[in-house]
Amino acid sequence: MEQMQQPIGVFDSGLGGISVLRELVAFLPNENYLYLGDSKHAPYGTKSLQEVQKLTCNNIEYLIGKGAKAIVVACNTATSAAIQILREHHKDMPIIGIEPALKPAVLQKEHPNVLVMATPMTLREEKFHALMKRYENEAEIISLPCPGLVEFVERGELEGEALEAYFKELFAPFADKKIDSAVLGCTHYPLVKNVIQKMLGDSVTLFDGGEGTAHETYRRLKEKNLLNTTPQKGTVIFENTEGTEQKTALAKQLLWHTF
Ligand code: DGL
Repeated sequence: MEQMQQPIGVFDSGLGGISVLRELVAFLPNENYLYLGDSKHAPYGTKSLQEVQKLTCNNIEYLIGKGAKAIVVACNTATSAAIQILREHHKDMPIIGIEPALKPAVLQKEHPNVLVMATPMTLREEKFHALMKRYENEAEIISLPCPGLVEFVERGELEGEALEAYFKELFAPFADKKIDSAVLGCTHYPLVKNVIQKMLGDSVTLFDGGEGTAHETYRRLKEKNLLNTTPQKGTVIFENTEGTEQKTALAKQLLWHTF
């Protein structure tokens, strides 16, 4: 098989990266994709830095071993923990990461109040601190770790009373504050976007990094002459470390039917 026809390896700690895969498939429909979710070890966001680095590197090695021509780390947590190591180990391979979409949320209006929802690790790591520093004079930026939210998505619980109760408690401290926008800084969160919007109200604009990551993937593939120029639609293969049929079924449902 020619290199350009090799798949793009897309990785997440579980099902969250499907919110990015959806943007990739929409923007680059001719590409072949190999999606790997490490649901067996999810959530990553509450683990130690060393653990996440090790899990991420092992999973990316697996995708490269399967012939991936490029890697999309469709996980904010894994990106903040391991993207530098991955790039050092694979100097010639395009490795695209994702980070919270803070820029568009800050630029949306003059000095907005911006909520950044992400995993405890993403918000704790240097990468996010550097990003926040860039915009700290232009907005009030409030970090909001959301431990436990990834688990709802992994269970396929994308709506319902328990999820609404979770958000009610999470957002309670901001009841008297005028929030202008919320950044969904974990790829699992766009999969429950409708519930987040309902609980925050229509006046809050939501942002996520999925589309930007798809555009960046296009740029990086083009630069290396790796875009698949064959005219037919590409394929998507799902793999999950949990290895159950339910997970694969849920992954397919999330990609093709839920949004
Ligand atoms: N989907 C992941 C992210 O974007 C992480 C979730 C987790 O495993 O904690 O951060």
